[in-house]
Amino acid sequence: MKIYIGSDHGGFELKQALVPFLIDLGHEVDDQGTDSSASVDYPNYAKKVGQAVVADKGSLGIVICGTGIGISIAANKVKGVRAALCSEEFSARMARQHNDANILALGGRTTGVELAKSIVEVFLNSSFEGDRHARRVDLICDME
Ligand code: RB5
Repeated sequence: MKIYIGSDHGGFELKQALVPFLIDLGHEVDDQGTDSSASVDYPNYAKKVGQAVVADKGSLGIVICGTGIGISIAANKVKGVRAALCSEEFSARMARQHNDANILALGGRTTGVELAKSIVEVFLNSSFEGDRHARRVDLICDME
């Protein structure tokens, strides 16, 4: 699967751990930055990943800032993005199955690397269930 990933400085360390993990799982990873722990503005990375995911049907995204809050808020401003901030696996599964989330947001300062890997695996291995959930996602899309 094609995965677009991006972070600010607060998510940089976790992003650097997740990129090789994703490659080892067999995914094609497009790292949109940032490329160091120097301070940057998370909305820019949310926008880059969000636009890339929307333009590339079937792809998914991962965005990371310190808490995951700012970068998820920003990503959700991109038309077509449904970004879900998850700190455990159940929400990650529901985000795909019920919400058809196309971007996973993580907090680099709140979620340890091993837990984050587990959340990422669950997110990527879960699929949208459609049916009544499709009606609700369509209602969200109508608001854009
Ligand atoms: C950056 O210091 C921090 O505000 C950012 O990474 C994120 O946590 C914002 O929501």
